[in-house]
Amino acid sequence: MKIRLLVCVGIFSMLAFLSCKTESYKEILLCQTEKEQISFDPDSIKEFVTGQYVRSLEEAGKGMLVPRNSYKDGTIRSTPIEDWVSGFYAGTLWYIYELTGDTSWIAPARQWTEVLDPIKTYEGIHDIGFMMYCSYGNGYRLLKDERYLPVLKQTSETLCKRFNPKIGTLLSWGNLADTATQKYHNTIIDNMMNLELLMFSAKQFQEPYFSDIAVKHADNTIKCHFRPNYSTYHVVEFDKKTGKIVKQETHQGYDDNSDWARGQAWTIYGYSMMYRETGNKKYLEMSSRCADRFISRLPGDLIPYWDFDDPRIANTYRDASAGAIAACGLFGLSEQVEDTVQSLKYYNIAIGLVNRLSSADYLAKDNYYKCLILHSVGHWQKKTEIDCNINYADYYYMEALLKALDLYDKKNGNK
Ligand code: GLY
Repeated sequence: MKIRLLVCVGIFSMLAFLSCKTESYKEILLCQTEKEQISFDPDSIKEFVTGQYVRSLEEAGKGMLVPRNSYKDGTIRSTPIEDWVSGFYAGTLWYIYELTGDTSWIAPARQWTEVLDPIKTYEGIHDIGFMMYCSYGNGYRLLKDERYLPVLKQTSETLCKRFNPKIGTLLSWGNLADTATQKYHNTIIDNMMNLELLMFSAKQFQEPYFSDIAVKHADNTIKCHFRPNYSTYHVVEFDKKTGKIVKQETHQGYDDNSDWARGQAWTIYGYSMMYRETGNKKYLEMSSRCADRFISRLPGDLIPYWDFDDPRIANTYRDASAGAIAACGLFGLSEQVEDTVQSLKYYNIAIGLVNRLSSADYLAKDNYYKCLILHSVGHWQKKTEIDCNINYADYYYMEALLKALDLYDKKNGNK
């Protein structure tokens, strides 16, 4: 009964926004003095998530490529393990195990984690932090399987080879074997997310070397990637001889000076994570400023357009993945900031994002029966993955959903 009532309160706020012409859902959330409630039924969502991924696994099991997108005709597009997204599928399976407590999810989660073993020495890209921490990292967190530790350590060592001490950041793109011939050293804002693996390894293996590199990278990213308004340049290119900035530009955003939504979401998450790991207030300040800007640019119904500066807004695409990543970062921030008004703001927007992603507008439907979240934009510049399902949207949605349900259960005395 209590659960029904809470869900009804949540649904009421959502309906208020849908029916009210003057106040958007965002405005309602920002004015609220109470915590927003979830607007979906937890059991129905659990049933939906498990059903979708049971069907995904049936198809994924046919080969060792990793599912990347799920399409309207029920097919899946898969990708090699060297792709930056290869860890999200295993990560989603770990989160489903965490959500349901059903141990039958462990075997597939292990299977899709362990296919990534060769990545521990892969020198092709910086994303090995994402790939291995979402898969092996979650596996270790949930099972404490010691066999996963050497893999995480070796991945950290491989990742650290990309650190350029003259510049003070990790190299993002390019194979290490080719760096001698590369004129510039590039660093992208997304690289902040790889630091979580290094912070984990520093603590776990008592190796300050890993955290020293992570901290230097985070500090230099503050110096080189941010505009005065706390939006970011996606890519910074450095001269390898002088260490000076040569270019600040975009790869996936609308243009070099635009506010690419997913890039901004990575900053909220990345600096909140660095504050959690170091206690350095500078990172909290960064995350919070980025969050304030991100929230100020969200549309009334919350899910961000793929780039906040696309001149075709409101006739352009949303990026649900950016909404999911930001929700995870905002939950973290809401627990970190001391100011109660600010904390409530981050909390309510995070819950609001989870509510919107859990609505019929974003949950997979029709023949999309092997994935969770629709309407993300992968690479608008290349015209690939426009308005579709992408596995990292599913992954961060699951992370945010778990957080929302955990808070909901605690509030209702279920935990
Ligand atoms: N890390 C690449 C992206 O966010 O699309």
